[in-house]
Amino acid sequence: MINKCLFPVAGYGTRFLPATKALAKEMMPVVNKPLVQYGVEEAIEAGLTRIGFVTGRGKRAIADHFDISYELEHQISGSGKEKYLESIRSVMSKAQFSFTRQNEMKGLGHAILTGETLIGNEPFGVVLADDLCLPDPGQPNVMAQMVKIFNQFRCSIVAVMEVPEDEIHKYGVIKGEAMKDGLYRVDDMIEKPSKDKAPSNLAIIGRYILTPDIFDIIRNTKPGKNEEIQLTDALLTQAQDGCVMAYRFKGTRFDCGSVDGFVSATNHVYENLYTE
Ligand code: G1P
Repeated sequence: MINKCLFPVAGYGTRFLPATKALAKEMMPVVNKPLVQYGVEEAIEAGLTRIGFVTGRGKRAIADHFDISYELEHQISGSGKEKYLESIRSVMSKAQFSFTRQNEMKGLGHAILTGETLIGNEPFGVVLADDLCLPDPGQPNVMAQMVKIFNQFRCSIVAVMEVPEDEIHKYGVIKGEAMKDGLYRVDDMIEKPSKDKAPSNLAIIGRYILTPDIFDIIRNTKPGKNEEIQLTDALLTQAQDGCVMAYRFKGTRFDCGSVDGFVSATNHVYENLYTE
């Protein structure tokens, strides 16, 4: 059974400065809900109810968000405004939260390794909250789709989508042998290649399921692109030594780490999902 999910949330959010000077980027609201809550709700719906955050300096608001605010509860109790707290109360009743801090920014691989203390020796999901993934109406969400595949293959899985050639340099990119139903067996993977070096147009999106041998592999992974310890490099080792699958998920993804993506997500949620 897989029931843990790791959220690396220590990044600075420089693209949203000055908004993110004192505000954790994961707390930016898409309409009335912080970005990170969408990710946590997705994990819970997929059955991953033990949520671990790899946080950093200036991110206290994330821990406060998933904790009880006694003043607020007291103030709002019986006031007719309780409905505004329903979604976060529901999240809090269904999941347990734990936190550890990454005190140096050495890349996504390093963030995942920092989370080892929260995960231990079991498979786990990873959600990068910047990537807001919304399911097709009535369909399971992206993490739930991945859990289903994990239960079949029992190896690490990365979510992928096709991206235009001139955007490929922003992503980890895979090459793989196509199997059925949007599944690929990965045989190559490169972090943020130039478009002439990209092995395909299939970019990794911020949803992963990882088997725990990834921790030792990361420990032995040298800094790569931008001198950071890259999860993509560790996953390539795992693919070469064993098996990694890539899965072309069903649903819509918004790159909320960019202003354009964030605005599109906001419009989409307001028009399709928001109810007062
Ligand atoms: C990270 C990963 C990259 C992946 C991307 C998805 O990059 O390193 O492989 O494609 O997330 O959002 P970042 O966007 O954190 O630079």
